[in-house]
Amino acid sequence: MRCLLIYYTGTFNTRFLTSKLKGRLEREGWEVDVHEIDPLDNRRLDYSPYDIIGLGHPIYGYCAPWAFLKFIRAQKFPRGLRAFIYKNSGETQHANDASSKYFLRKLRRDGVKTENEYHFLMPYNIHFRFDEKLVKEMLTMDEKLLDILVYEVKNRIPNIKRYKLWPRIVSSVVSRPQYIGGDVNSFLYKVDKDKCIDCNLCINRCPTKNIFRDTEGTIKFHHHCLMCMRCSLFCPKDAIHIGFLEDWGWKVNGGYDLKKIEQMEPGDPIITDKTTGFFKCYIETYANINRRHKEIFGDTD
Ligand SMILES: Cc1cc2nc3c(=O)[nH]c(=O)nc-3n(C[C@H](O)[C@H](O)[C@H](O)COP(=O)(O)O)c2cc1C
Ligand code: SF4
Ligand code: SF4
Repeated sequence: MRCLLIYYTGTFNTRFLTSKLKGRLEREGWEVDVHEIDPLDNRRLDYSPYDIIGLGHPIYGYCAPWAFLKFIRAQKFPRGLRAFIYKNSGETQHANDASSKYFLRKLRRDGVKTENEYHFLMPYNIHFRFDEKLVKEMLTMDEKLLDILVYEVKNRIPNIKRYKLWPRIVSSVVSRPQYIGGDVNSFLYKVDKDKCIDCNLCINRCPTKNIFRDTEGTIKFHHHCLMCMRCSLFCPKDAIHIGFLEDWGWKVNGGYDLKKIEQMEPGDPIITDKTTGFFKCYIETYANINRRHKEIFGDTD
């Protein structure tokens, strides 16, 4: 089988997941190519060498990121091409369920057979920082979900949900502000000169070249921001003010070293039947992954 993994990433969680998935599929004897979406280049790709494509995206505002949607809409997929979705996000509330609905519609119009869809767990790059021990536990669940994905996709066992009405409505309502939110919000972005060490990391890494220096050397922002959080998450001095998101207390600074975290020793379970509050939704997610894994691989408790 020849497979192309196409993904968009802001802060590299989806890149990490894609490299794991690539390794898994190659171990099955598949030939796997990878295309990371460059938001400034939506050229059509040649899909003729491929039997199947995998589409990876983080969830932004209960939807796929605008840059990802634009790329998919610009493509012409051959009829009959097989596809699967591997999305990821920090929460698993059902409000996120319909996050792939817009591009699924486009895929169906092109005659692409989208048979499988999986929601992986990755830490928030916005809102609040996840504890590393929890991230370790999430990555362990992701490994199980990768087992399930590879088994089902390889054996053509469909796994695609029918979205309920209310997540579809949530996705429609919240996704719209997401499309323009970055452009508007970037009027409020600024760099704290006292903290900044002029490393240029933010300028060099911004996926839309939205950050520049004016003639006086001051760091400024254009207004074509994806709200990907790459600049503010990785700024070594936490010098970037990200507008209303920061005013809401939603800025996270400092990336997650996922390679290091996955090497950590497993600790006591963090999500349990007694978990309440924000992470309560993980109970159902873990249970679904464990149940399906057991059905396929006959795990013993
Ligand atoms: C603008 C924005 C909106 C987000 N919205 C959601 C959301 O609706 N639901 C969710 O679970 N996570 C949300 N997240 C968190 C990301 O989906 C999560 O951190 C993801 O792993 C980031 O992937 P990346 O590093 O490949 O960009 C959001 C992140 C950003 C930057
Ligand atoms: S990444 Fe941070 S410290 Fe480096 S140039 Fe940008 S604002 Fe300054
Ligand atoms: S300005 Fe920052 S948040 Fe906006 S696209 Fe560039 S790196 Fe991403």
